[in-house]
Amino acid sequence: MKNNNNIILIGLMGAGKSSIGTQLADRLSMQFVDTDEFIEKKLGKTVNEIFEIDGEVFFRKLEAQILQEEDFMNHVIATGGGMPVFGDNMEQLNKLGTTIYLRISEDKLAERLWMVRKKRPLLRDIKSIKDLSSFLEQQLNIREKFYEKAHYVLNINDKASCEILEDLCIIVDKLKKTSH
Ligand code: S3P
Repeated sequence: MKNNNNIILIGLMGAGKSSIGTQLADRLSMQFVDTDEFIEKKLGKTVNEIFEIDGEVFFRKLEAQILQEEDFMNHVIATGGGMPVFGDNMEQLNKLGTTIYLRISEDKLAERLWMVRKKRPLLRDIKSIKDLSSFLEQQLNIREKFYEKAHYVLNINDKASCEILEDLCIIVDKLKKTSH
Protein backbone atom coordinates (compact mmCIF):
# COMPACT_ATOMS: atom_id res chain seq x y z
CA MET A 1 0.00 0.00 0.00
CA LYS A 2 1.24 3.53 -0.73
CA ASN A 3 2.55 5.17 2.41
CA ASN A 4 -0.28 7.73 2.51
CA ASN A 5 -2.67 4.74 2.71
CA ASN A 6 -5.34 6.36 0.52
CA ILE A 7 -7.67 4.30 -1.66
CA ILE A 8 -9.09 6.32 -4.53
CA LEU A 9 -12.16 5.28 -6.53
CA ILE A 10 -12.51 6.62 -10.06
CA GLY A 11 -14.97 6.06 -12.90
CA LEU A 12 -18.01 7.53 -14.59
CA MET A 13 -20.83 9.12 -12.65
CA GLY A 14 -23.30 6.52 -11.39
CA ALA A 15 -20.65 3.80 -11.02
CA GLY A 16 -21.25 3.84 -7.24
CA LYS A 17 -17.96 5.43 -6.13
CA SER A 18 -19.58 7.28 -3.21
CA SER A 19 -21.82 4.53 -1.87
CA ILE A 20 -19.22 1.77 -2.20
CA GLY A 21 -16.53 4.17 -0.97
CA THR A 22 -18.51 4.91 2.20
CA GLN A 23 -18.98 1.19 2.87
CA LEU A 24 -15.30 0.46 2.19
CA ALA A 25 -14.17 3.22 4.56
CA ASP A 26 -16.47 1.83 7.30
CA ARG A 27 -15.19 -1.68 6.78
CA LEU A 28 -11.53 -0.62 6.89
CA SER A 29 -11.99 2.00 9.65
CA MET A 30 -10.71 4.68 7.33
CA GLN A 31 -12.05 8.17 6.76
CA PHE A 32 -14.18 8.87 3.70
CA VAL A 33 -14.21 11.90 1.46
CA ASP A 34 -16.21 12.57 -1.68
CA THR A 35 -14.59 15.29 -3.78
CA ASP A 36 -17.96 16.67 -4.97
CA GLU A 37 -19.18 17.00 -1.39
CA PHE A 38 -15.86 18.50 -0.35
CA ILE A 39 -16.28 21.23 -2.98
CA GLU A 40 -19.96 21.74 -2.12
CA LYS A 41 -19.11 22.26 1.57
CA LYS A 42 -16.24 24.60 0.76
CA LEU A 43 -18.39 26.81 -1.48
CA GLY A 44 -21.77 26.37 0.20
CA LYS A 45 -23.32 25.51 -3.20
CA THR A 46 -24.34 22.30 -4.92
CA VAL A 47 -22.30 21.02 -7.88
CA ASN A 48 -25.34 21.86 -10.06
CA GLU A 49 -25.29 25.47 -8.82
CA ILE A 50 -21.54 25.77 -9.33
CA PHE A 51 -21.87 24.57 -12.94
CA GLU A 52 -24.80 26.96 -13.51
CA ILE A 53 -23.47 30.07 -11.76
CA ASP A 54 -19.68 29.78 -12.03
CA GLY A 55 -19.31 27.39 -14.97
CA GLU A 56 -17.64 24.03 -15.52
CA VAL A 57 -14.13 25.51 -15.96
CA PHE A 58 -14.32 26.97 -12.46
CA PHE A 59 -15.48 23.62 -11.07
CA ARG A 60 -12.54 21.86 -12.77
CA LYS A 61 -10.14 24.36 -11.15
CA LEU A 62 -11.59 23.52 -7.75
CA GLU A 63 -11.12 19.81 -8.43
CA ALA A 64 -7.45 20.34 -9.38
CA GLN A 65 -6.97 22.53 -6.29
CA ILE A 66 -8.04 19.69 -3.99
CA LEU A 67 -5.23 17.57 -5.40
CA GLN A 68 -2.66 20.34 -5.03
CA GLU A 69 -3.64 21.57 -1.57
CA GLU A 70 -5.22 18.82 0.51
CA ASP A 71 -3.09 16.36 2.40
CA PHE A 72 -5.24 13.25 2.72
CA MET A 73 -3.94 10.30 4.73
CA ASN A 74 -5.74 7.06 5.41
CA HIS A 75 -8.81 8.08 3.40
CA VAL A 76 -11.09 6.36 0.95
CA ILE A 77 -11.62 9.05 -1.69
CA ALA A 78 -14.54 9.01 -4.15
CA THR A 79 -13.71 11.31 -7.05
CA GLY A 80 -16.06 13.17 -9.39
CA GLY A 81 -16.33 11.31 -12.71
CA GLY A 82 -14.50 14.05 -14.63
CA MET A 83 -11.65 14.62 -12.18
CA PRO A 84 -9.10 12.18 -13.70
CA VAL A 85 -9.64 13.60 -17.18
CA PHE A 86 -8.42 17.18 -16.73
CA GLY A 87 -4.85 18.52 -16.57
CA ASP A 88 -2.48 16.14 -14.83
CA ASN A 89 -5.10 15.10 -12.26
CA MET A 90 -4.75 11.39 -13.05
CA GLU A 91 -1.01 11.51 -12.35
CA GLN A 92 -1.71 13.40 -9.11
CA LEU A 93 -4.32 10.84 -8.10
CA ASN A 94 -1.86 8.01 -8.72
CA LYS A 95 0.60 9.75 -6.39
CA LEU A 96 -2.04 10.45 -3.76
CA GLY A 97 -2.86 6.79 -3.24
CA THR A 98 -3.90 3.53 -4.83
CA THR A 99 -6.37 4.23 -7.62
CA ILE A 100 -9.11 1.78 -8.55
CA TYR A 101 -11.24 2.24 -11.67
CA LEU A 102 -14.80 0.93 -11.23
CA ARG A 103 -15.62 -0.09 -14.79
CA ILE A 104 -19.26 -0.41 -15.86
CA SER A 105 -21.00 -0.33 -19.25
CA GLU A 106 -22.91 2.67 -20.57
CA ASP A 107 -26.20 0.72 -20.71
CA LYS A 108 -26.03 -0.27 -17.05
CA LEU A 109 -25.16 3.30 -16.13
CA ALA A 110 -27.99 4.73 -18.23
CA GLU A 111 -30.49 2.51 -16.37
CA ARG A 112 -29.15 3.74 -13.02
CA LEU A 113 -28.91 7.40 -13.93
CA TRP A 114 -32.12 7.97 -15.89
CA MET A 115 -34.32 8.79 -12.87
CA VAL A 116 -31.71 10.96 -11.17
CA ARG A 117 -30.31 12.77 -14.23
CA LYS A 118 -31.73 16.18 -13.19
CA LYS A 119 -29.29 16.29 -10.29
CA ARG A 120 -26.29 15.99 -12.65
CA PRO A 121 -25.37 19.10 -14.61
CA LEU A 122 -24.02 17.16 -17.58
CA LEU A 123 -27.14 14.98 -17.87
CA ARG A 124 -30.10 17.12 -16.93
CA ASP A 125 -31.13 18.12 -20.50
CA ILE A 126 -30.98 14.61 -21.97
CA LYS A 127 -34.40 13.61 -23.31
CA SER A 128 -34.42 9.80 -23.55
CA ILE A 129 -32.68 6.80 -22.01
CA LYS A 130 -31.26 5.97 -25.47
CA ASP A 131 -29.70 9.45 -25.73
CA LEU A 132 -28.38 9.04 -22.19
CA SER A 133 -26.72 5.76 -23.11
CA SER A 134 -25.16 7.34 -26.25
CA PHE A 135 -23.88 10.27 -24.21
CA LEU A 136 -22.32 7.92 -21.65
CA GLU A 137 -20.76 5.85 -24.43
CA GLN A 138 -19.18 9.03 -25.83
CA GLN A 139 -17.93 9.96 -22.37
CA LEU A 140 -16.43 6.50 -21.90
CA ASN A 141 -14.66 6.75 -25.28
CA ILE A 142 -13.05 10.00 -24.19
CA ARG A 143 -12.40 9.15 -20.57
CA GLU A 144 -11.44 5.52 -20.47
CA LYS A 145 -7.82 6.12 -21.52
CA PHE A 146 -7.43 8.26 -18.40
CA TYR A 147 -9.33 5.88 -16.12
CA GLU A 148 -7.22 2.98 -17.36
CA LYS A 149 -4.10 4.60 -15.90
CA ALA A 150 -5.46 3.51 -12.50
CA HIS A 151 -3.43 1.00 -10.49
CA TYR A 152 -6.39 -1.43 -10.60
CA VAL A 153 -9.38 -1.88 -12.90
CA LEU A 154 -12.38 -3.61 -11.35
CA ASN A 155 -15.22 -4.74 -13.63
CA ILE A 156 -18.45 -4.19 -11.73
CA ASN A 157 -21.07 -4.66 -14.45
CA ASP A 158 -23.07 -7.55 -13.07
CA LYS A 159 -21.97 -7.34 -9.47
CA ALA A 160 -24.05 -6.53 -6.42
CA SER A 161 -22.57 -3.90 -4.13
CA CYS A 162 -21.62 -6.52 -1.51
CA GLU A 163 -19.54 -8.38 -4.15
CA ILE A 164 -17.84 -5.15 -5.23
CA LEU A 165 -17.04 -4.44 -1.61
CA GLU A 166 -15.50 -7.90 -1.20
CA ASP A 167 -13.43 -7.44 -4.38
CA LEU A 168 -12.16 -4.09 -3.08
CA CYS A 169 -11.25 -5.63 0.28
CA ILE A 170 -9.26 -8.35 -1.52
CA ILE A 171 -7.32 -5.64 -3.40
CA VAL A 172 -6.64 -3.74 -0.17
CA ASP A 173 -5.52 -6.95 1.58
CA LYS A 174 -3.06 -7.64 -1.25
CA LEU A 175 -1.76 -4.08 -1.01
CA LYS A 176 -1.21 -4.42 2.72
CA LYS A 177 0.71 -7.68 2.25
CA THR A 178 2.98 -6.31 -0.48
CA SER A 179 3.80 -3.15 1.47
CA HIS A 180 5.27 -5.03 4.45
C1 S3P B 1 -19.04 14.85 -13.32
C2 S3P B 1 -19.35 13.92 -12.36
C3 S3P B 1 -19.97 14.30 -11.08
C4 S3P B 1 -19.64 15.74 -10.71
C5 S3P B 1 -19.98 16.66 -11.84
C6 S3P B 1 -19.24 16.31 -13.13
C7 S3P B 1 -18.42 14.39 -14.60
O1 S3P B 1 -19.50 13.44 -10.04
O2 S3P B 1 -18.29 15.88 -10.37
O3 S3P B 1 -21.36 16.59 -12.03
O4 S3P B 1 -17.82 15.21 -15.31
O5 S3P B 1 -18.51 13.19 -14.87
P1 S3P B 1 -19.97 11.90 -9.83
O6 S3P B 1 -19.11 11.06 -10.70
O7 S3P B 1 -19.71 11.65 -8.37
O8 S3P B 1 -21.41 11.85 -10.18
